[in-house]
Order: sequence, then structure tokens, then C-alpha cells
Amino acid sequence: MTLLDRIQQTTEFILSRVSCDHPIGIILGTGLGGFVNEIEDEVQIPYSDIPHFPQSTVEGHDGKLIIGKLSGKSVIALKGRFHFYEGYSMEDVVYPIRVMAKLGVKQVVLSNASGGVNPSFKVGDIMIIKDHINLFPSNPLIGPNDERLGPRFPDMSEPYNRSFIEKLKLAAKSQSIDVQEGVYAGVSGPCFETPAEYKYLRIIGADAVGMSTVPEAIAAKHLGMDVAALSIITDLGIEGIVEEVSHEEVQKAAKEAEPKMSSIVKTFLASI
Ligand code: HPA
Repeated sequence: MTLLDRIQQTTEFILSRVSCDHPIGIILGTGLGGFVNEIEDEVQIPYSDIPHFPQSTVEGHDGKLIIGKLSGKSVIALKGRFHFYEGYSMEDVVYPIRVMAKLGVKQVVLSNASGGVNPSFKVGDIMIIKDHINLFPSNPLIGPNDERLGPRFPDMSEPYNRSFIEKLKLAAKSQSIDVQEGVYAGVSGPCFETPAEYKYLRIIGADAVGMSTVPEAIAAKHLGMDVAALSIITDLGIEGIVEEVSHEEVQKAAKEAEPKMSSIVKTFLASI
């Protein structure tokens, strides 16, 4: 069965459970799962029920699709994403984005937790992602290209929609939340970085580093979607102050910053 056939079957299954009215897609990263409680009139579908959907394996990433309303907008949210370090192929990592496109999603909000490499960042800061550097050893578009998904050589001059960035900044300001703006370096993980790697990431122009989002943003652009992305800085990889970091600390810091992130996303959704 071809990729497009599988996407079609997955989409038909979802539409047999719930109707979608050109929803906005949301991918909820580490520690941001609580955000789903804010979605109203929702229908939840566990990934395990969805044909052809990959299953998530990491603690803190239990998988379900939530379709409902947020800030008066129709949304489809993924609680639990698929990471390359779990052993999924790039095709699996971006599968949900392609299903979202088939469901009519044209705008997507991605969120994640990341390590700050910009020395002016603090743990708990929210960073609006304005650009990325793909340091994954692969790219979700490698392989034969199906023009029905998107072009062979997609433009990447504006990976994150400029007007979304402005609207995210305004949303934060209206809620009196300070935000950072910066470049997210996407790496495979699962190791956190060595001090030399954090230093390298800073030198090449990154402000933060994480293990997700970049493949999804690439696939979303390929599909012609407008992308907004936000990151919670959960630890710091700054020269001279690289401290030990654990998944538990990352989750804890992400959870603490979650109300700020929720508030920005809700205000942003109302504005688009
Ligand atoms: N490095 C990579 N990924 C991460 C980090 C980090 O420091 N923090 C949260 N995700």
C-alpha cells in the first residue's frame, strides 16, 4: 500500500469518528500535555485505535488525537509525538502532519522543550522559533517525491510564518509574558549535548536545541502549511554553565512553564 493510500485510510477512519471543519493543527510537546484539558467539546481518539498511526513509546508522551474547539477555533491536537530517536523512520515521524493536511489543516502550531544555548536565556523562558537548523542525520523528504504531497525541492526561505511570529509576540505581550525569539537546532538525540556540542550549536547560530519539531516543520512546509512554533527552555547549555540534565528535569521545567505557553497559544489562536 502506498503512503498516500495509508494517509487516505487513516483520514477516513478519523472522519468516521468525528467531523473536522478546517481545523488548526497543534502538536503538544514534552510537558505540554495538560493543554489538552483546555480543548472544549472534544473527541479523543487513542493512537492505538487509528489505522497506520505510529505508537508513542516515551514516558510523558502518551498518544492521543484530540479534536475540538479552542479560543473559538476548530483544532486537532496531537498529544504525544513520534521522535526519530525512538527508532521511527522520518516517514513515521511526519505521518501525523500528513494526515492533518488530508483532514484540511492549513495552519499548524508546534511546541517542544529545548535546551537554551543563547547566554541570555533562562530556564522557563518561552522562545518563539523564527528559523531552524536541521542537524538530524536525515530529512523527511528524502526518497521518491509524490507531487500530490508537495514539490521535490520545497522553498525554505520562510519556514515559520512571519505574520504568525508577529501574532505570537503580540499574544505574549497582551498577556504580559516575556518571550524570546530564536533559531532552533534540531538534533537526533537521545543523548543530551556535550559541552563542546552546545558550544558548537551556539557558534553555528542556534539559540536552542531539541530533538523534535524540525522534521514536522519541513513536512508541513512541503504540504504548503503555515507553521508557528514555540519552545520552552527547560535547561541551559551555555559555555561555562553546562549543568547535568535529565528527562525528569526537562519535564518538570516544561510543566512549570506550561501555563505561559497555553496562554500565548490560546491568545494567538483567537487572533488568526
Ligand atoms: N538538548 C536537546 N534536547 C533537549 C534539551 C537539550 O538540552 N532540553 C530539552 N530537549
